[in-house]
Amino acid sequence: MDLFRKKAIMPTGTSGMKKELKTKDLIFLGIGAIIGTGIFVVTGEAAQAYAGPALSLSFLLAAVVVVLSGLCFAEFASRVPALGGPYAYMYIVFGEFIAWLAGWFLILEFMLAVSSVASGWSGYVRGFLTSLDIQLPQFLSGAYNSQNGTYVDLIAVLVLIFVTWWVSLEAKKALRLNNLMVYVKFAIIALFIILGVFFVKPENWVPFMPMGVSGVIDGAALVFFAFLGFDAVAMAAEEVKNPQKDIPRGIIGSIAIATVLYIIVTLILTGIVPFTELGVQDPVAFAMRYVGHGVVGSIISVGAILTLLSVTIAMMYSLARLLFAISKDGLLPKKMGLIDSKHRTPKNATIAAGVVAMFFAGIFPLSILAELTNIAALSHLLLMAFGILRLNKVIGPAKPGEFKVPFGPILPILSIIFSIVLMLRFQAITWIVYGIAIVIGLIIYFGYGYQHSVLVLEQKENE
Ligand code: ALA
Repeated sequence: MDLFRKKAIMPTGTSGMKKELKTKDLIFLGIGAIIGTGIFVVTGEAAQAYAGPALSLSFLLAAVVVVLSGLCFAEFASRVPALGGPYAYMYIVFGEFIAWLAGWFLILEFMLAVSSVASGWSGYVRGFLTSLDIQLPQFLSGAYNSQNGTYVDLIAVLVLIFVTWWVSLEAKKALRLNNLMVYVKFAIIALFIILGVFFVKPENWVPFMPMGVSGVIDGAALVFFAFLGFDAVAMAAEEVKNPQKDIPRGIIGSIAIATVLYIIVTLILTGIVPFTELGVQDPVAFAMRYVGHGVVGSIISVGAILTLLSVTIAMMYSLARLLFAISKDGLLPKKMGLIDSKHRTPKNATIAAGVVAMFFAGIFPLSILAELTNIAALSHLLLMAFGILRLNKVIGPAKPGEFKVPFGPILPILSIIFSIVLMLRFQAITWIVYGIAIVIGLIIYFGYGYQHSVLVLEQKENE
């Protein structure tokens, strides 16, 4: 058995997909995937339960971890412009087994993120419907909880049916809706900042760190979720005109924009509302209602409902492309990788991704989904940082024009340390489910992937 067999770099441009994306499209794709439930929903709980007014420090800490990983990503994307993102990079550096693990963590991350955002979205919409006096039957109005009489979150399932249908049409069309939503997102955040700044009371920032440094770190582990999606950019490599330059710019650009917005928004948010009162489902809109601007609050709510859609679209788009790349290598059934001749998108992969995400969003609550998303993401980012430490040994030193993580091995090592620190903050239940997910991943690899890998065929042909 050879778990470390490697494949040669598969250059981009061999999949039959259209190559039409540029840096601006990628930054929009990144922002579309990044800014969503994290800032519009999770901030409330993070401030109230963990960080207090120091939530902006939690965001800063999470941003540092994300930037370190983003730099590793950018180097890989620039020097190894292969289809499939981290999955493909790990294939080249560590061989097939680690590649499958990275791919499996990515699949989990994207799938759980799609499910989490759909679930958060459903919460907003149900709140909106309640305000109009419309009630769904109890058994269709939430994740499985037999004590509450809820069995399926119908709205989360319905939104995922729509998103799956849309993304399986042409990618460009899906991204066009995504771009429109990004503008809506910027608009409501700008509205919040411009109006909110006049209602900040500095006394709300005192005490700044009510739960101490430990609260700030716990907050960072939770709001890390708000940055996920930056990796969506690397997954679009196959449709990018000039991946070597455009992908690093797309990744770093979208992280930078999100970081600046998050820090400003959380400073204003905790300046307007005492942190003890922020444990609500729609904190940004709530803050506006809190200072008597109910109409602005409603505008923000509707905007958030619309824009959370763009997050699910961007995540689903990346998930389908990842499944496409993995099935192309034979580690998942080949049928997944078929490109629809009419729309030139991986239609089967999109539908498969959609159906599984629907299942999770329908049955599991947001709290479990979000922590699991984070732990899956941190796992593959950890592998990426180890990969950068080995990259030169495998493909030689960087060539002129290629992006390189600055300061030698220091930043990848810091990335590894910080990722582990955040992972250790998660609850036991998250670790247990994570363990089960790893076992399922191993069963798929040893039960299917190892025998069906294209490398097996190549070996046979060489014999
Ligand atoms: N970063 C994405 C969000 O916050 C997952 O919704």
